[in-house]
Amino acid sequence: MSQSHDEIAELIAAQERLERRLVRPDGQALRTPVSAETHTPPYEMHRYYARRPHSVFRRLLQHYSVPGQIVLDPFCGGGVTVIEGLRLRRKVIGVDYNPMAILVSRLSVTPEPVTDFNATFAKLSSTIAAQMMAMYRTDCPVCGNKEAFAEWYEWSTRVRCPHCRRIITLATAMKPRGTNEYECPNCHEGFVRTGLTRLQETITRIKWNCRKCKHVGQKRPDRSDLRLARSFDVEFPAIVAIHSVISNDALWERYGSTDA
Ligand SMILES: C[S@@+](CC[C@H](N)C(=O)[O-])C[C@H]1O[C@@H](n2cnc3c(N)ncnc32)[C@H](O)[C@@H]1O
Ligand SMILES: [Zn+2]
Ligand SMILES: [Zn+2]
Repeated sequence: MSQSHDEIAELIAAQERLERRLVRPDGQALRTPVSAETHTPPYEMHRYYARRPHSVFRRLLQHYSVPGQIVLDPFCGGGVTVIEGLRLRRKVIGVDYNPMAILVSRLSVTPEPVTDFNATFAKLSSTIAAQMMAMYRTDCPVCGNKEAFAEWYEWSTRVRCPHCRRIITLATAMKPRGTNEYECPNCHEGFVRTGLTRLQETITRIKWNCRKCKHVGQKRPDRSDLRLARSFDVEFPAIVAIHSVISNDALWERYGSTDA
């Protein structure tokens, strides 16, 4: 379904008339508090990190711009500004360094026929789902269920300490405020990260969800979690190769450092 230019112009004008009565983008700061609402389904499609609350961005867009104006988010991440901006009939430009952010933002605002979506979903759940879910399995620390679900993993880079040569996880190294020095958790000497070889990353925290005892929480990884995490570098490329799904390399090629 496509609308004519006149119809779109009329919709924008109507929205503009409505918003002029509600907010005035006259440079006045927003003085009323805005409550942060939880994510709605469009934002649940992909758990892109650090998404801002859509209700807050929506209010900011309404306050500081009018329909038809250009809104730029140079760090658009999971696309909150892009999605809310389009809903409010702004012209939006989203930019991000991470190609996953561009893919997620672009797909969130691209209309797809529901039948195609359902067919693709059915195909993925009958082929890839079991293999993928095996990589999100963890033990429930409350009831011991071995089939709890890891909602996300927090990752950290590892480097070799230039003083004691021990391999350390950067997330566990103290970084005194205002300096760019880390303190080695083993020998307590200071070092800067620049020039150090980045070793294979490791997981440092897990958000788990147990369908058996209905608890959720966060925990530090145990041995079996760490073993599982080490297998990702082999497992993911294998899945990509078998099912010809999009890989990180392909993402970089298509969307690397670009705009949505
Ligand atoms: C906190 S997220 C953005 C959240 C987003 N505005 C929202 O509301 O969902 C920050 C984003 O900045 C991106 N970023 C960091 N450095 C960047 C750079 N130099 N150029 C472009 N994007 C960058 C990251 O990839 C990340 O997606
Ligand atoms: Zn449990
Ligand atoms: Zn050290």
